[in-house]
Amino acid sequence: MNLSIAEILRQATAREAKPARIDLAKPIKVGVDLGTAFTVIAITDDDGKPLAVAKQSADVVRDGIVWDFAGAIAVLRNLKARLEKATGRELSVATVTIPPNVSSSDSRAHHYVLEGVGIECTAVVDEPTAANAVLRLRDGAVVDVGGGTTGVAIIRDGKVITTSDQPSGGTHMSLVISGAYNLPFAEAEARKIDPNMQIELLPVVRPTMQKISTIVRDAVAGQGVERIHMVGGTSAFPGFAEVMASVTGIPTEIAPEPMLVTPLGVAQWARPVVEGATIADERSA
Ligand SMILES: Nc1ncnc2c1ncn2[C@@H]1O[C@H](COP(=O)(O)OP(=O)(O)OP(=O)(O)O)[C@@H](O)[C@H]1O
Ligand SMILES: [Mg+2]
Repeated sequence: MNLSIAEILRQATAREAKPARIDLAKPIKVGVDLGTAFTVIAITDDDGKPLAVAKQSADVVRDGIVWDFAGAIAVLRNLKARLEKATGRELSVATVTIPPNVSSSDSRAHHYVLEGVGIECTAVVDEPTAANAVLRLRDGAVVDVGGGTTGVAIIRDGKVITTSDQPSGGTHMSLVISGAYNLPFAEAEARKIDPNMQIELLPVVRPTMQKISTIVRDAVAGQGVERIHMVGGTSAFPGFAEVMASVTGIPTEIAPEPMLVTPLGVAQWARPVVEGATIADERSA
């Protein structure tokens, strides 16, 4: 596939608004991103071209651990049903993300969430490795600023060589807005992502951005990183790349549609499936 990264992410956004109807014989790959702020399902074709995306905000994962198992099942079941209705395809096989440095016993819970809604989980993939499947970096750092955490992965020769994950992200920014304007958290969150409010809010959230950037500066120190690539929903706050570049001293760019990079990437590890069977099953039959 020769689509540019920007074009893939643009299509993913369009497919979130309008999922494709998918022919029963067409192979699909399904990825699930269980984040601290959002749960996302992405469906792509065999080449990674986005076909459908759905997401729902959900507080079911904290510090990389599924703390509300029943809640996670309910959210995933809802997203699965929505996508199955929209695409006309059953979602029976998928892969799921885990934050870097989560132990294998904690990652089993992610696996069980998928199985709890009738999806066979064929792989558990760490978030930066998933993100880099879309970004396709040879060298540099992937910085994933999500809701609860900031993950940093150093990429060399196309492979993730080190990762770290620290607790700070978009939820922290919403809490600061909530305190500054004396708003309930949900209203602060809504104000934070309102494009008309973001210029006014930049001075309020800049110290949190600087704190997150300091985490990144420390994580990349001595690694010879020449460029930082930001993903994760919080990277969409206008001005974050400039703050990151000024604190770290490293040129920084933000992926278009940063929230969808990891979900689309994890789908690339999924076994392609046609209706009623995986391709591998069919070939071995
Ligand atoms: N346009 C936007 N501007 C600023 N922040 C945004 C925007 N869109 C989403 N966010 C924030 O991005 C965060 C969610 O991002 P993402 O889905 O990448 O997180 P997550 O994967 O659920 O969390 P984590 O990676 O920490 O587990 C939320 O805090 C949300 O408020
Ligand atoms: Mg995430």
